[in-house]
Amino acid sequence: RIPAFVDAVIARMTVEEKAGQLTLNAAAWAGSAATALNPPSAGASFEEQLQQVRDGQLTGVFNGNGAEMSRRMQKVAMEESRLKVPLIFAADIIHGHRTVFPVPLGEAASWEPELAERTAHIAAVEAAAAGIDWTFAPMVDIARDARWGRGVEGAGEDVHLGKLFAAARVRGFQGKRLTDRDAVLACAKHFVAYGAAEAGLDYNSVDISERTLREVYFPPFQAAFGAGALSAMASFNELSGIPATANHWLLDEVLHGEWKFGGLVVSDYTGDEELIAHGYAKDGRDAARLAFLAGVDMCMQSGLYMKHLPGLVQAGEVPQARLDQAVRRVLAVKAQLGLFDDPFRRIDPRREKALVLSKPHRALARDAARRSVVLLKNDGNLLPLRKNQKIALIGPFAAGQHDLVGPWCVYGDDKQAIDLATGMRAAAADPSLITIAAGSGVEEPLAGGVEAAVVAAGAADVVVLAIGEGTRMSGEAQSVTDIVVPAPQMALAEAIAATGKPIVVLLKNGRALALEGGVAAAPAILVSWFLGTETGPALADVLYGAYSPSGRLPVSFPRAAGQVPYYYGHKATGRPNPEGALQEYKTHYRGVLNSALYPFGHGLTYGQVAYADLHHDANLAWNGTLTARATVRNSGSHACEEVVQLYVRDRTASITRPVRELKAFHKIALKPGETRQVEFTIRRADLEFVGADNRWMVEPGTFDLWIAPSADAEGLAGRFELAAA
Ligand code: IFM
Repeated sequence: RIPAFVDAVIARMTVEEKAGQLTLNAAAWAGSAATALNPPSAGASFEEQLQQVRDGQLTGVFNGNGAEMSRRMQKVAMEESRLKVPLIFAADIIHGHRTVFPVPLGEAASWEPELAERTAHIAAVEAAAAGIDWTFAPMVDIARDARWGRGVEGAGEDVHLGKLFAAARVRGFQGKRLTDRDAVLACAKHFVAYGAAEAGLDYNSVDISERTLREVYFPPFQAAFGAGALSAMASFNELSGIPATANHWLLDEVLHGEWKFGGLVVSDYTGDEELIAHGYAKDGRDAARLAFLAGVDMCMQSGLYMKHLPGLVQAGEVPQARLDQAVRRVLAVKAQLGLFDDPFRRIDPRREKALVLSKPHRALARDAARRSVVLLKNDGNLLPLRKNQKIALIGPFAAGQHDLVGPWCVYGDDKQAIDLATGMRAAAADPSLITIAAGSGVEEPLAGGVEAAVVAAGAADVVVLAIGEGTRMSGEAQSVTDIVVPAPQMALAEAIAATGKPIVVLLKNGRALALEGGVAAAPAILVSWFLGTETGPALADVLYGAYSPSGRLPVSFPRAAGQVPYYYGHKATGRPNPEGALQEYKTHYRGVLNSALYPFGHGLTYGQVAYADLHHDANLAWNGTLTARATVRNSGSHACEEVVQLYVRDRTASITRPVRELKAFHKIALKPGETRQVEFTIRRADLEFVGADNRWMVEPGTFDLWIAPSADAEGLAGRFELAAA
């Protein structure tokens, strides 16, 4: 679907202009996000960058600053460059532009892909008006090691959930037609297995079987491309000895060959240059050659393509045909974005002003935020709070416009966000019922903080303890060795626990945490991630019961940090350890159960939900369907939403299978006293796995199934047979 004029443009280009179309640099506009986040683009000033545009040496810039900057640069491209090829403006729009939605991991906790589609659309609307054509999102890396900081940018540990969120986010960003002025190009990243970095250490090596790649790490990418994503970003990591950025098998054979991907591949930030440090390329020239021949069409930030591709082509080390292929891919994407028809279609300072942080956008941010909160525990129905209760709101995240929009948020501003204290004071019967005490810093103690917090707790009916991780504790390059609440905050928690007051722990976190001591023992625990612009009102909705929590964990919370990497869909081993008494010579840690403290899929509501009446077919014909039904009843007095989950296990197979795999779920609303029937359909395709020859296959045999409220719950269990063909 490459428009004919693209080849006509390519025919007029010099080799240098072709290399320019493959060169993307961080924006150098003063005050742009790029200059704040990264060193100014390859040392160039904005004026120098404009000259590069005039000379046809840049395809576009990323992480710039608004419509005004985009307009100035695009004008130069369209009026002063020889071939007048429009620039493309890219940015990391990960979880909102100026209106910030929950971090992607938090939003995945909603188990509502359609919600992610809506928030991605609004992010696109705001970003596009600010002159952005292309977002470096969604991040679709499966992440099973909570030490890795970038799990916060994805949808968690599960393949099924990951696929649904990947596709939804692409649909949201790209809209109905890429030419729409409020659609932005999506980029599935980081291809691939970046989340499998050894020891959860960012940028670390990955050594992984092709089967695991195909079964776990590929599917969310395939879902993103299936939904129409027209760009992909090569990951920083090496993959079993060959860096992804130079991996011909991955980028050419699999992506373009097997999957028929029709878009472009961009490197990550200096990813091509890093081939030298990996020990894979001799020097910059070699790095450019290897990345380019492997299938990286566009180089981000290193400038190596501009510098070396012309010489490499002249020396015959890079075929002219490969150069034309990469340029064709880039121009085709620009054409599909409508940039050749109207290069200014997304650049609209008036729309930008009118749309960002508008009322409807903030309303969606509030709804998305409250849908992302997970209630782990609610002993004695401590929650919801009563509006006339005296509350001691304690912790470093109790008040103040900080740590609200969360990590990887280029354009979001904590100063435009509403904090917890403001949200709670607005919702309480009287704002004076809320007393605030920070108690501790995020990672350092606060002089006199604990003492003041204890006094505040003593005078209150209930303590809301807002603790956890700060913005800089997760995200890129924020790996940790211990997934716990920082020590000064734990000291605060213990002191508050010692007062004997009922405590609601309100966790802020960008990863699964191992909860300990007074935090684990608190009667009520909410997981709130980083919720974005409407943090305070959304949390007040949940705390005071205007909204019954409906989130479910997209990552398992282990019992101890030493269990990581921990995920529910693990293999059994030859000596599985049934929970209960710890047994020698079985798969177990000394003194710690293998199971999660709070499993994947777990989350409570203010309703009282019970599952009953499982009915399912005993047999699934090779080309048939199997139906499984259960009734779900809310016998409580609060309306709620329940996420009813279907898991299966293949009992015996030629490749061992995980102990459980999520295959489907329904999020349903239940009024007080309401009973609903939930129905699932299973087909042979749902039971496929990657066989010994690395191809998807399915084997007849016996399968367990569960309709359950989480990955660990016994729920309703059944068994069926898949008949042979
Ligand atoms: O998009 C990001 C990527 O996820 C990490 N490195 C920098 C890129 C551009 O900002």
